[in-house]
Amino acid sequence: MILGIETSCDETAAAVARADGAVLAEVVRSQVETHARYGGVVPELAGRRHIETIDQVVREALTRAGIGPRELSAVAVTGGPGLIGALLVGVAYGKALAYALQIPLFPVNHLEGHLCAAGLGAGAVAPPFVALIASGGHTNLYHVKTWGEPELLGRTLDDAAGEAFDKAAKMLGLGYPGGPVIDRLAGEGDPERAPFPRPYPTCEDLNFSFSGIKTALLYYLRDRAAEGRSWHVPDVAAGFQQAIVDVLVEKSLAAAKRCDVRHVVVTGGVAANSQLRARFEARGRDEGITVHIPPVRYCTDNGAMIAAAGARLLRGGRVASLDFEPRADWVIGG
Ligand code: KG4
Ligand code: ZN
Repeated sequence: MILGIETSCDETAAAVARADGAVLAEVVRSQVETHARYGGVVPELAGRRHIETIDQVVREALTRAGIGPRELSAVAVTGGPGLIGALLVGVAYGKALAYALQIPLFPVNHLEGHLCAAGLGAGAVAPPFVALIASGGHTNLYHVKTWGEPELLGRTLDDAAGEAFDKAAKMLGLGYPGGPVIDRLAGEGDPERAPFPRPYPTCEDLNFSFSGIKTALLYYLRDRAAEGRSWHVPDVAAGFQQAIVDVLVEKSLAAAKRCDVRHVVVTGGVAANSQLRARFEARGRDEGITVHIPPVRYCTDNGAMIAAAGARLLRGGRVASLDFEPRADWVIGG
């Protein structure tokens, strides 16, 4: 049995998995209510909230799995990237638990965790595949030839896709986090009535850029206000969302072709987006590429993906040590 702990941002999460990666129990405690009134995650508050909830979340995960701490054979904890004050809480907790139980502790890269979500849920898939991780902090494309050795093909040069959704929602007065509310409103709107240019669409280059579309939205709202015209929020949400979704889909499929693989994995919080999911499936079918999108609870931050990544390290005979510090900027794949 392996315990996975995730505290890199604003979710306090823990899960118990078997050494073969099967998830037995999972608990995710969101901090959205704490941060919503500030319009974004406040790092200091995130750290404090993790301290208040981590023990409860871990105990609940063990209870749901029907085991006691002494039945654990390893602990896996997110070691980065993320907010340093938030990471420190999970890492300190994980170290203390592993030391007390005299079991190994594995630091897991948060992005490696998101990649491991590909192996969870009904449509589980194994490498080789191309993976898009689109979250609030990252928009990365990887070629995963074997587990544990992803090769970075492209990444955002400025804002992450989730960050673009969050900033757009803020401009439209829709609150935080922006992704889910834009997703919901876009379903009631017509993207053709508020078209936005697709940001950095060239598939020659697999990097992304989402800061321009944020400025395009700012000008759209400002110009309309100056002309005394109003706007239909669902149409604007739909147009904005479609521009981002199109670029994520087309670049990911182009990457799969370039790497000559037939499978694409899409994960990270933005993979919860309903239009992104639908569009990926439809375009994948057109191109003869199978698109795997884990269940929503494994796309957003969770402990199961960390436990699954830890189980893989355990099976791989990785030697663990208590002697590591969290790294806010821990990159993988170059
Ligand atoms: O992976 P995640 O839970 O945390 C990070 O590692 O960042 O991703 C959170 C991000 C936020 O920016 C949020 O707005 C976005 O994922 N998100 C969505 C949706 N649900 C969450 N973006 C678009 N549509 C959604 N339905
Ligand atoms: Zn994440």
